[in-house]
Amino acid sequence: MTDARWQAVDDFLTRKLLPDDPTLAAVEQRAASAGLPPISVSAMEGSLLQILVRALRARRVLEIGTLGGYSGIWMARGLEPGGTLVTLEVDAHHAEVARGNFEQAGVADAVDLRVGPASESLAAMREAGETPFDLVFIDADKSGYPDYVTQSLALSRPGTLLVLDNMVRGGQVIDDGDDEWGIQGTRAALDVIAGEPRLVATTIQTVGIRGYDGFALALVTY
Ligand SMILES: C[S@@+](CC[C@H](N)C(=O)[O-])C[C@H]1O[C@@H](n2cnc3c(N)ncnc32)[C@H](O)[C@@H]1O
Repeated sequence: MTDARWQAVDDFLTRKLLPDDPTLAAVEQRAASAGLPPISVSAMEGSLLQILVRALRARRVLEIGTLGGYSGIWMARGLEPGGTLVTLEVDAHHAEVARGNFEQAGVADAVDLRVGPASESLAAMREAGETPFDLVFIDADKSGYPDYVTQSLALSRPGTLLVLDNMVRGGQVIDDGDDEWGIQGTRAALDVIAGEPRLVATTIQTVGIRGYDGFALALVTY
């Protein structure tokens, strides 16, 4: 089995299951033209995120790592009426591109984009006593993952679902000592999850146009 096969199957399934979406195609195009790296979730992964948002009937979703807004648009489209996506981004240029994309996708009214280091934005949200989130999607710098899990827990309630991206990284997650892609942050986040009795967790290993990777899903139980 090769990456080429994974990509071909991903393309096939995307064509089979997802309607053509000129809005999202334009969002990807604008992000590429603005020089953003091609590291958003794939269409199939975006669809998974939207299904989770819809299954939870989520009104409040938190995203850590906005980039150009691609995954944010998938999730914002799945919110209950009147719901909000709060999305955190440290890079002002990424945030500016995302703002334009949220406007173009018609979801800007449902999106609250906050610019700054996520650890600081999260601390400010805790300090302000913000209403807990229904779903949190963590997809930013891997070294920050342990802190993002801990802080997200403080912004959660029983029933909140935490979703972490890039948890397998081509299998590097089992390579103790290898820190390409900040895999030690990924491993430390798994330790935080494993050591937190309020969480029940699993992982989904994925292959596709983004290679071999995976999500962690952790449910807040009490
Ligand atoms: C993988 S991309 C996010 C992709 C996006 N979720 C999507 O699928 O469309 C990671 C993003 O996290 C941002 N980021 C990195 N470190 C951050 C930090 N400390 N605080 C907030 N955002 C950060 C990066 O600038 C980048 O835009």
